[in-house]
Formats: sequence, structure tokens, C-alpha cells
Amino acid sequence: MNEVKLDFSGLMHGGDYNPEQWLDCPEILAEDIRLMQKAGVNCVTLGVFSWATYQPTENEFHVDWLLERMDALWAAGIHVILATPTGARPAWMDLKYTETMRVAKNGVRNHHGLRHNHCMSSPVFRQKAADITEKVATAVAGHPALRMWHLSNEYGGDCFCPHCVQNFRSWLKQKYGTIDALNHAWWSTFWSHRFASFDEVEPPYENGETSMPALILDWKRFTTAITTDCMQAEIDILRRITPNLPVTTNFMVFFEGLDYHAMAPHLDMISWDSYPLWHTDAQTAADVAADAAFDHALMRGIGGGKPFLLMESAPGLANWHPYNKLRRPGMHRCASMQAVACGSDSVQYFQWRKSRGSFEQYHGAVVDHAGGENHRVFKEVAQLGEMLAQVGAVQGGETPAQAAFVFDWDNRWAVESIVGLAKETVKYEETLRSFYRTFVQNGVAADIIAENADFSGYKLLVLPLHYLLKPGFSTRLSHFVKNGGRVLATYLLGYVDATTLCHLGGFPGEGLAELFGVNATEIDTLYPTDRNATTLDGQRFEIKDYCEILQPLGDETQVLAQYESDFYANTPVITRKQTGAGAAYYLGARLEQAGNEALLRQIFAECGIETETLADGAQHHVRQTEGERFDFYLNFGAEPAAFAVEKDATLLSGVAPQNGCLQLAPYEVTVTKTAL
Ligand code: GAL
Repeated sequence: MNEVKLDFSGLMHGGDYNPEQWLDCPEILAEDIRLMQKAGVNCVTLGVFSWATYQPTENEFHVDWLLERMDALWAAGIHVILATPTGARPAWMDLKYTETMRVAKNGVRNHHGLRHNHCMSSPVFRQKAADITEKVATAVAGHPALRMWHLSNEYGGDCFCPHCVQNFRSWLKQKYGTIDALNHAWWSTFWSHRFASFDEVEPPYENGETSMPALILDWKRFTTAITTDCMQAEIDILRRITPNLPVTTNFMVFFEGLDYHAMAPHLDMISWDSYPLWHTDAQTAADVAADAAFDHALMRGIGGGKPFLLMESAPGLANWHPYNKLRRPGMHRCASMQAVACGSDSVQYFQWRKSRGSFEQYHGAVVDHAGGENHRVFKEVAQLGEMLAQVGAVQGGETPAQAAFVFDWDNRWAVESIVGLAKETVKYEETLRSFYRTFVQNGVAADIIAENADFSGYKLLVLPLHYLLKPGFSTRLSHFVKNGGRVLATYLLGYVDATTLCHLGGFPGEGLAELFGVNATEIDTLYPTDRNATTLDGQRFEIKDYCEILQPLGDETQVLAQYESDFYANTPVITRKQTGAGAAYYLGARLEQAGNEALLRQIFAECGIETETLADGAQHHVRQTEGERFDFYLNFGAEPAAFAVEKDATLLSGVAPQNGCLQLAPYEVTVTKTAL
């Protein structure tokens, strides 16, 4: 992270504001400011997708409308985050310069339309993006309302045009040096797929080369690199014109398409857009809320543990969910305060005012088509504004955690491109999330960190399906254990190196077999109705989907549990090996959630990590500033929840505890403060 500091005191509250849709309605623009003040809005994001308003034709440029709005907002004490408008292009550009439009993976160029669909290699697009960024930045530089830059919008997607193909080849050449090195890494002798030169390499067109996992992995890495390069081109301009303003871009949940760890070092602060499917019939509220905590932890980890910004969230409802159910009364507060509890210094929305027409006219907004302040959603937003003001001192506070999940995009991509196992049940994301739920439900804070993060502050590392090993990782993991750390890894650990070549000599590779004290000799993929089982500490748990056959290496490997049935009955499924002051646990199969919980509770106890007894859907999170500790209690459950609260804690916002006990009705939130 570059870390130009954000100059903002307290928690941000506001969101995407598109006054350009209402420039012919001055009464609405004036009403917006009145309503923002009523709702406790102190910062809005302008300019997302405003390119055609700035530049309706190639040779025009209008920025007065923006400056007038910024002046009016600032006069009302409202700050501005300004987006570069490059997330969607005006029609004139696509029609005149067709190369700015992406080529899809079937090799056919898109037509004009939608958004986020520019070619990131196109020299014309790059030039036009640089021009508009430069013009807008020059016009607003020094404006007192301006606090931060928001680059484009939700970067994502790949392009298969000739420019991108050329850039891919150059990127590969840079990475591998020689075509022989690439051929080795991609194991291209298989099926006669050897390349004689980099010019023969094509991207993974859907009707082309889709059979090489290493190529697919490199294409994804390249897509991150070209996206980052495109983003950096904007950053360079902004740094030159407004060196004291931080830059961010809004990331998307657990997005598959880009390696956010690689993009983060270019930014000053992480921000992201959160749209959980609350009240779904597919998951319990407790699980949705635990998954939301996972998302926040992931974003926090991408920023190295620093606070992040919740850049978008839906007040009321979204319009693109499979079923766009209304947020029930109170859920807005609970979901928004959870973001703050997990490290956000803001609650921002998409969108301030519902647009009158087009694609998102029915997406939730603070201000409804009906207008005014009497709408249910507006009232809930205004109440939240009061709560955010009451807990503003938490700004900048970090979230202490004794445990961390190690998550790596390359590993995720590699697991998801394995040709083998069963596509339907690999469920990489779901598996990670189900482990994380156990932490949330037991009141154990856990970070989600990159492979190259500092492990030394943690007592426990969790590595679900950590299949791909990058250079140096296994050595760092071994040091962590020797120095007293505990690690829990699962089936699929360490099968391949960073290019997806299998380790020879047994899995897991790179010395991890010695660390964990096991070899995984085979992996059995079960049919969806197949079950095995195991017994851990007298309790029986079901196993489904995957069973690795484990061979203990030497007497130091303790077998904690064995398979119950099949030809590998009575062979190990859970093992532990002590090394130095620490220990490495290996789980060879997919256990039912209760089994993961039983195992983790045993490991928590060994690590001295305290757990809490929380009601279904209840969450407790902690943030700490230099002198103060903030406890957030949230009830996402359908029933009242009781929490034990420190006696000397001061109530900051919410319900007052009685004699160390706090009772929260569904969706209620309480924040307390304790001096450290
Ligand atoms: C986000 C996007 C916004 C808006 C929102 C709707 O992904 O950045 O512009 O479309 O979704 O939920």
C-alpha cells in the first residue's frame, strides 16, 4: 500500500451520487443536499460513469456542472470522493475507435453498450482515459471538498483482442525468458502442444486452447497485470496533479477474475462493494452474516490489516439478486455496523437517489422515487447516520486477531482449474467460508491474509485446500510451526508448484510432508450421496466429497481420527505432528461442519485461543485504537441473543447492558468502549 493518508475525521457515511442525471431539475439537486444533511451524510462519491456528461462528443469538455455540485456539497459540509469516469465509455468513442471495445473469449468483438467492457491494452482507450482523467483532475485539484480518488469502477473482465494477445506474449516472454522454459512449465509436450516461439501462444479462447491449466493460470495473472497497468496509468496522472489525495478502487467481494493482492500495493486504501443476499431461503441468517464477516476480513487482509472503506452497499434492496427481497427493518443497521465492526471506516451506498429510468431504476437507494424523508429506507439510513456519529472514535481502529486463514488467488485459480476430482464438489470458496463460519460462531477473530503476509503475530494458521505452493511459502510455514505456531491444513495440500507442475516424490511437496508427518498417497472423489465417517473425541462425524488416503511418516505423527469405512477403513483421516514448539494438523477429508468445529475447538484450546458461546446469528467483534477498545455486539438471528459484556465498558451506542449482560432483539446492535 502506498498510504497517502485519507484526511477525514470520523466514519464516512454517504455513497454514489449521480447529480448528472438531474441537472435539469435544480429543485431535486437542492433537495438532495437538504436530505443528505437530514440523513447524516458526510461524504458522497461523484463521477462514477460520468464520461458522456463531461465529454458528450469527442471535442467537448464540460466540468462546470461538477464544480457547481462540489461547491454546493462543500457549502453543506459534505465531502467528495471523485471517481475517474473510465468505467463506461461514451458511444462516440466505440463507434469511431472500435478497438476500445473488448473482444470476447470466442474471439468476436463486442458491440457498444453495458459498462466495464473496455480493452485495457487499446492505445486509443489508454489515451482517451488519460486525457479525461487529466482534464477532470486539473479542474478539481485543490477543491476543499475533495478527499479521495476512486479509480474507474469495479475493474474486471478480460479481452482477447490482437493488442491483448500481443501483450500476453510479451508478458510471457518477460516471465519465462525462453520458450523452452515456458514449454517446461506448461508441460506442453503433452498432446504435442509445444510452442516454437512466443508468437505461437494464444490466449484461452473458448473455442481454442482450454486444455492447459498452466496457460489458464498465466492468462489470469496476465489479466491482473494488464488491469493493474491500466489502473496505474490513471494513478500516475492523479499523483502528479493531486499528490496529497489518496487513491482507491472499489473491489468486489470474493471476485474470481483479479488477484487483488497484486493490485493492492498500488492503492492507498482498500475499498469494496458489499451486497450479501440477506433473508435468502438458501442459507440461514447466521451463515449469511458469517460469510459477510469473511468478506470484510478478506478486504481487511488485502490492505494488510488496516481499516478499509465500505464503498457500496444497498440501502433497502439490490436489483440484480436472483430474488430482490427487501431488507427487513433493522437489517440495514445490523449489516452496516457489521462492516464497521470488521474494520470499515465508512458506510457508503449505491445509490443516493433512485434513477428515474434505465437499468438500475429499481435498485435500492437512500431516496426513493417518491422523494422526501418519510420513506422507511430513508429513516433507517438516517438512524444509522446517528449511530455512526456516536461511534466515530473507532475510526482508524484495527481488529486484533490470533488466527488467520492463508488465502491466495493463484491457489484458488489452480484449484478451480484442476481437471480431475469432481467439478460440482470442489467448492473451493464454499469450503473456505464454512471453516470461517466456525470462527465467527465461536467468537474467534480471524484474519484472511496473503501468503507473503507476516505470520508472526498469529497463534494459528488455517490452510484449506492449499494446493499450489509458491516459492518460499513452505519454509516460512515450517518456521512458523517451529516457533510455536499451530497450523491446520486440509486435503489437496501442496500438490503443485507455482506453475501447476506436480511435486514429485509424494504429496504434500516441498518438505510439507515432513512438517505434517503424512503423505497423501491417493484422493478418493465420492459421489454426492456417498458417505464415510470418522470419530473424533468420541463424537461421530460424516465425511463427504473427498477422502485422501494418508500414510503417516514415522512415530511422531499422532493419528487423531480414522476413516470408518471403505477399503481405507481404520487408516488416518486427521493427524497431528509436533515440531519445535508448535504443531501441524492435517485433515484429509471433507468433514461435516460440526466435525470441523470439534477439531477447531480442540486446536483453539491447544493454542490458548478463547472462544465465546454465542446464540445463533449473534456476532461479537472488536476494534482497537491506541488507547481504546470497541466491542461490537450484533444479532443477525431471529431470536433475542444474550452477550456477556465487560462490567467496566461504557455504552457508546445501542442497548444498555445490565450487570454485565446484554440482551439484543433481532437485528439490534450495541457498541461499547473500554479504556486500554
Ligand atoms: C455495483 C456497481 C454499481 C451498481 C451496483 C448495483 O457492482 O459498482 O455501479 O451497479 O453494483 O448493486
